[in-house]
Amino acid sequence: MEKRKVIFSGMQPSGSLTLGNYLGALKNWVSLQSEYDSYYCVVDMHAITVPKEPKDLRRNTLEVLANYIAAGLDPEQVTLFIQSHVPAHAELAWILNCFSYYGELSRMTQFKDKSKKQDSNAITAGLFTYPVLMAADILLYQADLVPVGEDQRQHLEITRDIAQRFNNRFSETFTVPEAYISKDVAKIMSLQDPNSKMSKSDSNENAYILLMDKPDVIRRKFKRSVTDSVGVVNYTDEQPGIKNLINIYSKITNKQPEEIAGEYQGKGYAELKEDVAEVVIEELKPIQEKIDYLLKNKDYLEKIYIEGAQKAEIAAQKTLRKVKRKVGFISR
Ligand code: AMP
Ligand code: TRP
Repeated sequence: MEKRKVIFSGMQPSGSLTLGNYLGALKNWVSLQSEYDSYYCVVDMHAITVPKEPKDLRRNTLEVLANYIAAGLDPEQVTLFIQSHVPAHAELAWILNCFSYYGELSRMTQFKDKSKKQDSNAITAGLFTYPVLMAADILLYQADLVPVGEDQRQHLEITRDIAQRFNNRFSETFTVPEAYISKDVAKIMSLQDPNSKMSKSDSNENAYILLMDKPDVIRRKFKRSVTDSVGVVNYTDEQPGIKNLINIYSKITNKQPEEIAGEYQGKGYAELKEDVAEVVIEELKPIQEKIDYLLKNKDYLEKIYIEGAQKAEIAAQKTLRKVKRKVGFISR
């Protein structure tokens, strides 16, 4: 039998997941799970690159795992695990740090954005080398494909550069992975500023919809979403707020954006906002019920992440052993 291609991806437990995480990434993961050998990780080590309360980190880590399962990832089919449970990630990250350059890391837009938001004395070395840990995550599993949102494209590029550099310096060691970014709507934007992405770390909670938000909260946030003064529903870059609402609608219903815009000719923005809120509420309802159930059944979650780490460990060690031998470490 031909070997199945490998997928690796992960999300940070930096808060509860948003509609952006779900529509931009998680929904794709679910549709890919039966065709690939898949690893989906909760990247808690990435989450501590910015200040994080320990009790929040613990809660969010389990929440993200519950979100993965509730959104439809099947633990029987895919490997679900927590990054810090597999020490090979930290070990490979160190080695790859020694094959990554200050210059290329300085050019990462996510680093530039995140470090701008902090006092320069609070920018950690961890935040700077974040993409190297991400490269280690991916390369350990010899992943062919990495399904992520558009914002991670640059991190995938540096992962490929690091892999190729290592392969050239020694010999073929890592599979050079490809980013898998859904073509239709790769980015869900903030409801308060349609020119920046919807993010759970936004200081304004009206900017994002959380997967766990209650129906009345979802209605309120859409109602307050920022649009424009054109007054006509069009699917165009000139009206980014409306475009984002249509994108959300389209992602959930699988209707074409232009078709949706057509249906709202002669109607006001309020109606579009109300309808988008209702489709989102319907889509999230079964997911929310499952999340509640899972978070009340911590033993089940524990069983999933323990088994997941055991499976991941085997694949990760295979690569790590090879890497250590190539760089010249003595095995014991
Ligand atoms: P993060 O929340 O930054 O850990 O992101 C986890 C995954 O969700 C990554 O693949 C991101 O690219 C994706 N993602 C996060 N926010 C959005 C968004 N607003 N639109 C689309 N994808 C997103
Ligand atoms: N940096 C990614 C994000 O913020 C999360 C991540 C860490 C990741 N390691 C990864 C994504 C490996 C894909 C593969 O979204």
